[in-house]
Amino acid sequence: MRWLRAAAVALLGALGLARGAGRRERVVQPGEPAPRSELVVAALLLGAAACAVAFCVFYATDSLGHQTQLLGLSLGGALALLSAALIVTGKRLVVEEELEEDYPEPESPDEQEQVTAIVRESARPLTRKRLLAGAAGVAGTALGAALITPALSLGPALDTESLYDAPWRRGTRLVGERGTPYRAAGIETGTFYTAFPEGADPEELGSPVVVVRLDPAALALPAERARWAPDGIVAYSKVCTHAGCAVAIYRKPLFAPAEPRPALVCPCHYSTFDPAAGGKVLFGPAGRALPQLPLEIDATGQLRAAGNFSGPVGPSFWGVRTRRPRST
Ligand code: FES
Repeated sequence: MRWLRAAAVALLGALGLARGAGRRERVVQPGEPAPRSELVVAALLLGAAACAVAFCVFYATDSLGHQTQLLGLSLGGALALLSAALIVTGKRLVVEEELEEDYPEPESPDEQEQVTAIVRESARPLTRKRLLAGAAGVAGTALGAALITPALSLGPALDTESLYDAPWRRGTRLVGERGTPYRAAGIETGTFYTAFPEGADPEELGSPVVVVRLDPAALALPAERARWAPDGIVAYSKVCTHAGCAVAIYRKPLFAPAEPRPALVCPCHYSTFDPAAGGKVLFGPAGRALPQLPLEIDATGQLRAAGNFSGPVGPSFWGVRTRRPRST
C-alpha cells in the first residue's frame, strides 16, 4: 500500500500536478530544459503508436503477402521505438544524480516526502509535459491494443456460424490433389488416401478427408451410419478434433500382438481415432470423434459424398456437439 501511494504521488509529480513543490528546499539540482529532446521523445512515442496500429491492421488483413514478417516488423518496431523513447527520457530529460551509497529504506514521513520531492523535481526541467503525457498515452493505448489483438484468433467473438461450414454435399465427387476422381476399386486396404471435394478450395478447413478401406465385417459404426461405408470404405475429416493438426498417420498393424485394429493418428499429440467405429477417440487428448463423411459409389464406380459430415470439423468449441455442419 505504501509503495502504491508513493507511485501515485510520483506520477502526479512527474506530470506537474502535485502541489506544494516550491515550499521546501530542493533535493535535486535544477536541470537544464531540453526542448529538442522532448520533441524527440514525443516523436518516438508517436512512432511506436503508429507501428502498433500497423500491427493491428496487418493482423486483420489476411490477404497480405509476407504477413508474418510484417507482423514481426511492426510489433518489433513499436517496442524498439518505445525503448528508444525511454532511453532518451532517462538520459536527457530526467535529472541524474550520482550516489555513492544506496538509498536507505524510506521509513519516516520525512523520508517519504523526500523521495516524492526527488521524483517531482526530477521532472521539473520538462517544458512540454502535456505533449509528452499525451504521446505516452497514445503509445500505451496503441501498444495495449496490439498486444490483445491476437486474442481475436481464439475464434469469432459474436458470429460462430462459419465454424459449421463445410464444402461437402450429396453427390460431391472425392478427388485427389490433382483433381483426379477416386474410384472405389482403387482404394486398397492397409493404407490411407487424402481426398478433397471436387471444385472446392482444398485449403478450406472442411475440405480434406482421409479415406481408408476396412474389412466390412469389422465395422462397428453407429446404427444410423450403417450405409455410410460402401464396401468397407470410410472417410473422415483430416483435421484433428484436438487442436486442428492434420491426421497424417494410418496405423495398420501387420501382426496381432502389436494392436488389434487399424487407427488414424494425429502426430501432434498422438490423438488416435478408430475408423471402424465412427472415428471415436481411442487415445490422446482429442475430446470428440473425427467427423465422418458418408460415402456412396456411383454407377461408374467413383466415390461420392452421400451428404455432409457427422459433426463440425476442427477443434471443439462451445456447442460443437449440438449441430450438424452446413454445406457451402
Ligand atoms: S492436434 Fe491432433 S492430437 Fe493435438
